[in-house]
Amino acid sequence: MLVLAVETSCDETSAAVLRAGDAPAAPEILSNIVLSQDAVHAPYGGVVPELASRQHIKMIEAIVGESLSRANVRLDAIELYAATQGPGLIGSLLVGLSFAKGLAYYFHKPLIGVDHLEAHLEAAFLENPEIPFPVLGLLVSGGHTSLYFLEEPLAYRRLGRTRDDAAGEALDKVAKFLDLGYPGGPVIERLARGGDANKFPFAIPRTKDRSLDFSFSGLKTAALKHVRENGISKSSPALADFLASFEEIVARALLENVRQAVDETRPRSLVLCGGVARNTRLRTRFQDYAREADLAAFIPSPKLCTDNAAMVGALALKRFVRLPSSGPDLDLDAYPR
Ligand code: KG4
Ligand code: ZN
Repeated sequence: MLVLAVETSCDETSAAVLRAGDAPAAPEILSNIVLSQDAVHAPYGGVVPELASRQHIKMIEAIVGESLSRANVRLDAIELYAATQGPGLIGSLLVGLSFAKGLAYYFHKPLIGVDHLEAHLEAAFLENPEIPFPVLGLLVSGGHTSLYFLEEPLAYRRLGRTRDDAAGEALDKVAKFLDLGYPGGPVIERLARGGDANKFPFAIPRTKDRSLDFSFSGLKTAALKHVRENGISKSSPALADFLASFEEIVARALLENVRQAVDETRPRSLVLCGGVARNTRLRTRFQDYAREADLAAFIPSPKLCTDNAAMVGALALKRFVRLPSSGPDLDLDAYPR
């Protein structure tokens, strides 16, 4: 079975073609085209929703076309369409969802709408179809920081989420404050290299009720205080130490909740996903912890961590196999949160 998936929830226009083999083997990614809008939003230091949807409208047809030609597949051979339904920017989501609806309607093929956060988790299964359940998943992106417990495939239970900023958002905001560029995560990673992560003290944030929720706005405020009090700027010699310390505390804060969730839920495997999962320090801390806790750890390769349509297609396929539908569901609506 051939699947065409589109993903336009935020600032990446992406389309992918997947070929489903025999379950439980993972589908084969025939193409996974991702066009980043970073250059469009960089001057503003963050995503401008109106510009994002306009850019998706401009590019979606070319990106879908490119995904088909790279996969060497004709549109009339596609048997299943998939699109991200939410959460995300509503104007952006509607571009991909409407485009997929149009194609599914024209070719009389089923269309599956998937949740963006569940799709991020699916990226891990795409590369490792045999991850042992139950699974504890940590999703860390620009808009979300959440912990999930999966007793079995497709059974998502959210254990905790951020009460304010997402981890990626905190990185992006600190980078913006220092005028380092957008998106902040990769820039911070590059500039923190070689820095001393113990140089600047930070306290691990804790929610008062000891729940599994996250909070990153306090860390961001503490970071900005260090910046002001120590006169840290783009060009100061302390920049690498400061950024390494901040990156380190973000990773430790995330792991702190993973540790607590493992104690409470006793999973067999750990999954780390989302854009911030590209971060080498976080990947290393996550793997170190998994080894210490004697758990199997799975982290998608960097390309599958950030927003991409392959993860959307993979999740749609799993849902379709479980509950096949015949035609397109034209009532599918996008949801912002
Ligand atoms: O999952 P994603 O592509 O989009 C959302 O759904 O939000 O994640 C984007 C986030 C941004 O905050 C970006 O700064 C962060 O992922 N990011 C990183 C790295 N690469 C991307 N954060 C830390 N280190 C990186 N190497
Ligand atoms: Zn995402």
